[in-house]
Amino acid sequence: MRILVTGGAGYIGSHTVLLLLQAGHQVVVVDNLSNSNPEALRRVAELAGRAATLHEVDILDHAAMDHAFTEAQPDAVIHFAGLKAVGESVREPMRYYRNNVAGTVALLEAMERHQVRTLLFSSSATVYGDPHAVPILEDFPLSATNPYGRSKLMIEEILRDLHRSAPEWSIGILRYFNPVGAHESGRIGEDPNGLPNNLLPYVTQVAVGRLPAVSVYGSDYPTPDGTGVRDYIHVVDLADGHLRALDYLLRGPGLLTCNLGTGKGVSVLEMIHAMERAAGKSIPCRLTERRPGDVALCYADPGRARQLLGWTASRDLDAMCADAWRWQRDNPDGYPSA
Ligand code: NAD
Ligand code: WQD
Repeated sequence: MRILVTGGAGYIGSHTVLLLLQAGHQVVVVDNLSNSNPEALRRVAELAGRAATLHEVDILDHAAMDHAFTEAQPDAVIHFAGLKAVGESVREPMRYYRNNVAGTVALLEAMERHQVRTLLFSSSATVYGDPHAVPILEDFPLSATNPYGRSKLMIEEILRDLHRSAPEWSIGILRYFNPVGAHESGRIGEDPNGLPNNLLPYVTQVAVGRLPAVSVYGSDYPTPDGTGVRDYIHVVDLADGHLRALDYLLRGPGLLTCNLGTGKGVSVLEMIHAMERAAGKSIPCRLTERRPGDVALCYADPGRARQLLGWTASRDLDAMCADAWRWQRDNPDGYPSA
């Protein structure tokens, strides 16, 4: 198959591109490199023994997208491109709506022009807002608490409208829980710009000595140890979920909405202790105030993905930490700057 991957140089994209290449697909990446480094795709090529083609293009650039589609002639599109920092989205909402929402509309129009009607979209557990119960099922009520989350919700609604009006499309909405870890080679991984927003990259940067201590945001939640509980999923399992979902979509038109999580809740303190075991050192942390907007508990019911896609996450918390640590230890400053 020929697959066009937007945002394929990024964290989840690069791991998915690797698995696509290893499965024998032809891959064309469209990425403006606003939050990634082309070194990721060079290393993916090293690991796969063959390369994806990179177009350094913004998904909002009509002419450049036409050129990429004409060259790629894709059977399907996997759409990772987007901005993802919650705090930044509160400060710069227009940038998020333009890049994520208008960018997706532009991509859908390009797909229509080129008669490509199979799409996998990166949604997020953030669309469940503050869930009334756990584990979370796909038919739970949807809401958003910040512009980033709202951009994902808007895109989901656009995709549902599109499918209603044009049922010949085959669309997969994948709601990721908390992706962590790195490829087991330690060659590719998550390389956040500046101070990490997410827990695991923060913890590994403390472990490697780049940051002094982890702040644990809240220890009075109604959870077993008082700290927030999340469903962390190994990025390679997540990437594998995309290959399974792609197989499913290519069987025929439809609209698939699926959680990608493990179904297991892990607290902030459990995560820090697991990383201490992986790194073989203690990780300084201090209990601080809750972070505004955080929920106490968020984990998936992964039953639909198991049933429809035959997919379950196979890597446990120790593997997530071991792989995240190998990446951080071997690349303490992330990818070398271009
Ligand atoms: P990332 O920032 O590493 O990757 C996104 C990629 O998209 C980057 O390479 C960036 O340069 C590119 N990009 C952004 N805007 C673009 C544009 N207008 N044109 C072309 N390229 C553009 O992020 P990630 O963690 O790999 O996330 C991938 C997708 O998954 C995003 O849509 C994100 O919202 C979603 N998601 C991520 C998480 C998470 O915690 N990492 C959780 C749920 C959903
Ligand atoms: C996890 C837990 C924090 C940092 C975010 C987005 C979500 C999705 C995934 C894209 C929480 C605690 C964190 C720290 C801490 N992204 N924490 N100290 O908030 O579940 O989800 O990323 O779609 O939309 O909101 O992930 O990794 O930021 O936090 O104690 O320095 O760790 O309070 O309980 P979150 P996270």
